[in-house]
Amino acid sequence: MKIDLLVKNCSELHTLKGPERPRTGNEMKDTGLIIDGALAVNEGKIIDVGKSHEIEKKYEARECFDATGKVVTPGFVDPHTHLAFAGSREDELVMKIEGKSYMEILESGGGILRTVRATRRSSKDELKRAMIKRMNTMLEHGTTTAEAKSGYGLDLKNEIKCLESIKELNQEHPLDLVPTYMGAHALPPEFDDHEAYINYCTETVLPIVVEKELAEFCDIFCEKGIFDVCQSRVLLTKAKELGLGLRVHADELANIGCSTLAGELSAVSTEHLVKTSEDDMMTMAENGVIGILLPGTPFMLMESEYSPARKMLEHGMAIALATDLNPNCCTESVPMMITLACLHMKMHPKEALTASTFNAAKAVGRNDIGAIEAGKKADIVVLDMPNILHLPYHFGVNPVERVYKKGRLVVDNNSDSKVSYF
Ligand code: NIG
Ligand code: FE
Repeated sequence: MKIDLLVKNCSELHTLKGPERPRTGNEMKDTGLIIDGALAVNEGKIIDVGKSHEIEKKYEARECFDATGKVVTPGFVDPHTHLAFAGSREDELVMKIEGKSYMEILESGGGILRTVRATRRSSKDELKRAMIKRMNTMLEHGTTTAEAKSGYGLDLKNEIKCLESIKELNQEHPLDLVPTYMGAHALPPEFDDHEAYINYCTETVLPIVVEKELAEFCDIFCEKGIFDVCQSRVLLTKAKELGLGLRVHADELANIGCSTLAGELSAVSTEHLVKTSEDDMMTMAENGVIGILLPGTPFMLMESEYSPARKMLEHGMAIALATDLNPNCCTESVPMMITLACLHMKMHPKEALTASTFNAAKAVGRNDIGAIEAGKKADIVVLDMPNILHLPYHFGVNPVERVYKKGRLVVDNNSDSKVSYF
């Protein structure tokens, strides 16, 4: 049979084959490894996977890549990014080095509100150009699908600008985006009352976002001093009624009961989870809420406390990893998150791989990516390393050699010209 693409002789092919539900506990270590593996692709989809010597003889491929000495995995899925923002805040890193806390910077007019001012000032074209640059870097580092939140516009006009940018770029760029409305990210300067702003998000902005089909999910920064559990319940309940999936920024700086709320409302995910209690973990495990852990955030806040990943796994939670890409945690690199997860949260490299592929796909509601199995989209990453243990180990460099998006080569970091085909 003639096919479009054969990737053969993979030293390690991590297929992530297994049950079609978020992997929990010990399952996260099983990455469906095939030594000397191969995969066959036709019309953008994976059609066959197995031992190289068996797959090779079945197909005549128009394009063939010999992955001898390489690791091949599903494309990374980054399930938590604040992609739609303008400007940067590099000077706040210096303030943090000098001892200021995240909340102090926010309260003095920096932080999120500063990025809101920059994002409001940018035209849609300027915003999209900044986002494209980040999307190129994401793809070059192996991310083939990413969730993208709004939340730096806050008012109707600017939230719509951010969400429309996400929608347009999803069509214009090979990286796939999953849009989330996160108007409840901070109290904008034109409001002085949190309840009134939640009411504005719930009654004015959200229905328009849904009507224009600009979001699949709704998220809220449920945090001490930001939005409380009651306010979060109001917005999330309405979002659920309108058919959106729910995500919650929970337990990042303090535990005020947000992950219990997420369990109650059957949110798809809770995100951050640094201050999470064991009771919360059990509620989330029972309700199938996926914990999205963001080790880049405590790293950039220079905190010593990271998410208690091992306890979460013990309590049967499914875990995904994400970058949290935003002006405070300015990275597009999933490989770097894998290093941090292994070192600071004691995740095994294979657990971190599951968390960055299969479980991350489930955390953005996608069943057609996250594994190298017949029928899934051919989103594939070739890593320039002999085994997966090098992924956290060889840090601070880009381990990605090639990226295929729906079977098409979109990144070749190893060619002399470092070609990106997008
Ligand atoms: O997820 N925690 C809330 N929002 C972002 C940070 C946003 C910012 O500082 O601009 C986060 O870390
Ligand atoms: Fe975030």
